[in-house]
Amino acid sequence: MTDDAPLEPLLESAVRAPSSHNTQPWLFRPRPDGVDLLADRTRALPANDPADRELTISCGCALLNLRAAAAAEGAGTQVTLLPDGPEADRLAHVRLGGPPDAALAPLAAGIEGRRTHRARFADRPVTAAETDILRDEAAAEGAWLTPLTSAAAHGDAAALVAEGDAAQWADPAWRRELAQWMHPRRQGDGLSLPWLAVPVARMVVRTFDMGNGVAARDEALAEHSPLLAVLGTAGDTPADWLRAGQALERLLLAGVRAGLQASYLNQPVQVARLRPRLADLAGQPGHPQILLRLGHATDSLPAAPRRPLSDVTLAKGG
Ligand SMILES: Cc1cc2nc3c(=O)[nH]c(=O)nc-3n(C[C@H](O)[C@H](O)[C@H](O)COP(=O)(O)O)c2cc1C
Repeated sequence: MTDDAPLEPLLESAVRAPSSHNTQPWLFRPRPDGVDLLADRTRALPANDPADRELTISCGCALLNLRAAAAAEGAGTQVTLLPDGPEADRLAHVRLGGPPDAALAPLAAGIEGRRTHRARFADRPVTAAETDILRDEAAAEGAWLTPLTSAAAHGDAAALVAEGDAAQWADPAWRRELAQWMHPRRQGDGLSLPWLAVPVARMVVRTFDMGNGVAARDEALAEHSPLLAVLGTAGDTPADWLRAGQALERLLLAGVRAGLQASYLNQPVQVARLRPRLADLAGQPGHPQILLRLGHATDSLPAAPRRPLSDVTLAKGG
């Protein structure tokens, strides 16, 4: 399990993880006993994510995929988070070996089929039993998932999303950054558009504050979500963000098994002044990390592109 060749399928699974703006901000360094996960901060989003919080969450998602894929291959994983301390780019060391995690192994089957589903979901509820499964999977990684079930909380969260959209779109730096990550599909990263549409779409996003239109669309999406839920953690350090990422991907993969897909309405977390209001709605001790919409997809989408493994794999370390 520690030769480079057997590592490859695990890394192929790891890079299928979601990441903000599809930046894929991860690097992997094979080690004699396993692999290191590193943050690639050249792919940071300073306007959208100034503390690299979402960057670290995205890396946590990749880590969970790696652990689940190893378990499905019959290998155990022992993870040390932040072995070099919180300032370092080395986010985790994964030692491969020992008994596989029986709870993680079945989740690997969802890695290929998970999608960020940005359209409306089918008019079909997410049941209480399904919600409990998602909550348990998040808890298994040390995070909490709180469904916003009351009509009042649902509506308040939708209004916060709209307020967040307005604030982000009013910021030219935020719009410039979004435009920079609009890429033709063949580039292998970013938010994919047909290549002919890229220059115009970028120009429009850079130039015009479309906050009102986006806010109205997102508010309606939030209001019509079968399930709206806040994922959070007790603390708000890089280790907590790695936990949040692992919890996020774990519940997303469990969702795929139950026929559910998800997408993100993170604006009330990204806009710092709105985060305490989302925390009040969640009513949990600690910090909201992700606001999720979940439901049954109405159509199957093509997978978003990924960079080749050769771009994210470093030379073997000692
Ligand atoms: C931490 C995090 C934050 C994200 N935030 C958003 C978001 O605010 N809006 C959105 O549409 N997608 C968001 N995404 C989803 C990514 O855009 C998506 O994962 C990426 O485009 C790859 O697509 P895929 O998830 O279908 O593989 C986020 C993903 C992560 C992990």
